[in-house]
Amino acid sequence: MSASEMPKFSEERLAEIDALVKRYPSAKSALMPVLYMAQQDFGYLSMDTQQMVADVLKLRLMEVREVVTFYTMFKEQPHGKYLLEVCTNASCMLNGADALYAQMKETLGIGPGEITEDGLFSIAEVECAGACAGAPVVQVNNIYHEKATAESMEALITKVRAGEAI
Ligand code: FES
Repeated sequence: MSASEMPKFSEERLAEIDALVKRYPSAKSALMPVLYMAQQDFGYLSMDTQQMVADVLKLRLMEVREVVTFYTMFKEQPHGKYLLEVCTNASCMLNGADALYAQMKETLGIGPGEITEDGLFSIAEVECAGACAGAPVVQVNNIYHEKATAESMEALITKVRAGEAI
């Protein structure tokens, strides 16, 4: 990748980051929110994007990598516009998450790590989403869908494909 193709925060974003950093005792404290911003702006955190974040905050790439690889909400691979994260941990598994996950993969025609042809969806199996009382849980971007069923997820997929808000 040439220098001109490297990801770059907009001037507005840089100003926002600057203001944020000033609120903390050290730039490192702003790392999580800045990673969120980067993920929002660039879709996922490629190595180049992580390097950009490191440069902006004057951190070492390793310091950024430690955080990105620890927290599952940070994504290092590209995914569809809607990432459907199906929890298959104990409570969800006992409430039918495995069958739900299998059904959703079939509906979408993709497996984990893949993107539907229309670029809209990716699917992933995740560990406990921390909402066990609502099992089975499917997180769609930042929204939790509790007591999810094959029917409710199919309806959501149909809505998104029709361009409707979910
Ligand atoms: S086991 Fe699925 S949310 Fe906890």
